[in-house]
Amino acid sequence: MKPILLAFVLAAVSACPAAETVPLTSLDLGHLHFEGWGKPQTDKSFVGKPLSIAGQKFEHGIGTRALSTLWLELDGRVQKFSASVGVDDAAPNEAASAIFSIIGDGKKLWISGTMKRGEPSKRVDLNLKGVHSLLLKVDHVAESNTFDHADWADASFIVAGAKPCTVNAPAEKKVILTPKPPSAPRINGPKVYGCRPDHPFIYRIPTTGERPIRFAADGLPSSLQLDAATGIITGAAPARGTHTLTLHAKNGHGQATREFKIVSGDTLALTPSMGWNHWYAHYNRVSDVMMREAADVMVRTGMADVGYSYVNIDDCWMNATPDAKRTPDPLRIGPFRDDGGNIIPNKYFPNMRAMTDYIHAKGLKAGIYTSPGPLTCGGFCGAYQHEEQDAKQFAEWGFDFLKYDWCSYSKVAAGDKSLDMMKKPYALMGGILKKLPRDVVFNLCQYGMGDVWEWGAEIGGHSWRTANDLGAELNRIFPVALKNAEHRAWSKPGAWNDPDYIQIGYVGDASSEGAPKPCPLTASEQYSFMSLWCLMASPLFYSGDMSQLDAFTLNVLCNPEVIEVDQDPLGESAQVVKLTDDTFLMVKNMEDGSKAVGLCNRGETKEVITAKWTDLGVTGKHIVRDLWRQKNLGKFDGQFTATVPRHGVVLVRVK
Ligand code: GLA
Repeated sequence: MKPILLAFVLAAVSACPAAETVPLTSLDLGHLHFEGWGKPQTDKSFVGKPLSIAGQKFEHGIGTRALSTLWLELDGRVQKFSASVGVDDAAPNEAASAIFSIIGDGKKLWISGTMKRGEPSKRVDLNLKGVHSLLLKVDHVAESNTFDHADWADASFIVAGAKPCTVNAPAEKKVILTPKPPSAPRINGPKVYGCRPDHPFIYRIPTTGERPIRFAADGLPSSLQLDAATGIITGAAPARGTHTLTLHAKNGHGQATREFKIVSGDTLALTPSMGWNHWYAHYNRVSDVMMREAADVMVRTGMADVGYSYVNIDDCWMNATPDAKRTPDPLRIGPFRDDGGNIIPNKYFPNMRAMTDYIHAKGLKAGIYTSPGPLTCGGFCGAYQHEEQDAKQFAEWGFDFLKYDWCSYSKVAAGDKSLDMMKKPYALMGGILKKLPRDVVFNLCQYGMGDVWEWGAEIGGHSWRTANDLGAELNRIFPVALKNAEHRAWSKPGAWNDPDYIQIGYVGDASSEGAPKPCPLTASEQYSFMSLWCLMASPLFYSGDMSQLDAFTLNVLCNPEVIEVDQDPLGESAQVVKLTDDTFLMVKNMEDGSKAVGLCNRGETKEVITAKWTDLGVTGKHIVRDLWRQKNLGKFDGQFTATVPRHGVVLVRVK
């Protein structure tokens, strides 16, 4: 062969290398995200046994658990992806099930359908030519979460070009959707407010607009005073009955008027409580200084102007014993109680009354935490056998909210798992709080045991956690919301399902309790978080670092039209209308007859979602307003359709 021709042939051969097999296990699996505890395994099942699907053993592959995602970047020259998939025989629950899916460049390329433990593996051989972005996903079937251990066995790529590269989930720009509040005053917050006659009363009229603003109120009961410069109403709660006020706010740019009902009676929290809780930002690092700072920031950033009002301490304000799980800090170790049995705060809380006075002076409210057992979850002093003494102390210190955990009460219950035993500590505390000369909102934190939604209100609770801590499950906001929404029938004024706190902005690492870092959620996921929580009429407690709030986080937290969905006086939690495996509607009836609707996409690719009027229970033409953008989208007849991003919610109001 002539040298020139030979060179040409050699060049052609090296430009088209022979296809190569690249096992999935040879790639960097640091990007494989999964849910819950444990660790995905290479060449083993999730629990470290040989990979096995319906008795068939596999030497190679990945053992993971739903929900699990692995994103990859390809060069368009991957010829094939092959694997045998199925639920691993070692999944510790016979109901274990999973759905495998493969998504390429935003399109679903392959779906296994529901696979159960004991079912033979399914083989996938997929041509990936031209595909650049690939997702290997294992999902739960519906909301089941039953140790769904799942295998990508014998998984490999045949590549003609570069090796696939595992990458982070797609990043999104943090776009601020909400317009800045107008300079003229706008009165926000609840339209109805519950209190008990004669008790200390404090309410800061949440109002956006340029300060100074002058406030006035028609129909203010004589036991109350309004500070015209701050908009803070104080005094003693009026006599039993409904008192209808007209609030006014005025500045150089304009004025606002709004009706506000004070219902003096037996029920507090007529709308879901809103505020801040320190837990997911500061864990056992909390101090008096942080609480005061949180109150300052709540006012300074405008959070208080849209309705946030509680500044709540969680665990770790008391003393612990030296062997406590959560405190190596000597300043948090000390005697639990004085000779009179009075609980002693640790050295970071030198004067509780001075701290709540500080918070109250801003028109805000203060909350505290304890457990019915001898120890709190962090191993600090609990309320056991001092319930009444502690509750009275909290009221004397000036607290307006109590979160009551369960930790260490199992020891008291000594194996008795009856419903009566589950109710007992909460009924006891509920009864005590009702007799206090102070309004104390009562939040039950026992993770949904004994179907707490069915009896929480009866024993004096105003809200109850419906599940475990969301901290470690941040990547599950959609399934957690869908589970919480199942208890919608029990949501009503004074009685709220609590799916845990809003964790956006800078939050601590819930698994290591490390210092606050930017939260891992995408922009869409953060908007979804807030949208879903508002649609479910959840208590709205922000639990990120107040000293690191940025403009994006504030825009997610502080949109008054979104918050109005949460605070609607009807107190309904949205009804879920399932559309596909990945999409659903959440439809919330509002007091004015309009509907707040979330078009929800929990899937990995953008989806076109239609809200049909028949699913909303309306007919005819309606104005649809985009609540995040605070913009009318037009009049629609019969249905409204939107493109909803991956893990996104489009939140509208249909009027
Ligand atoms: C439990 C609760 C959390 C938090 C911690 C404090 O885990 O569910 O919300 O209060 O205890 O230790």
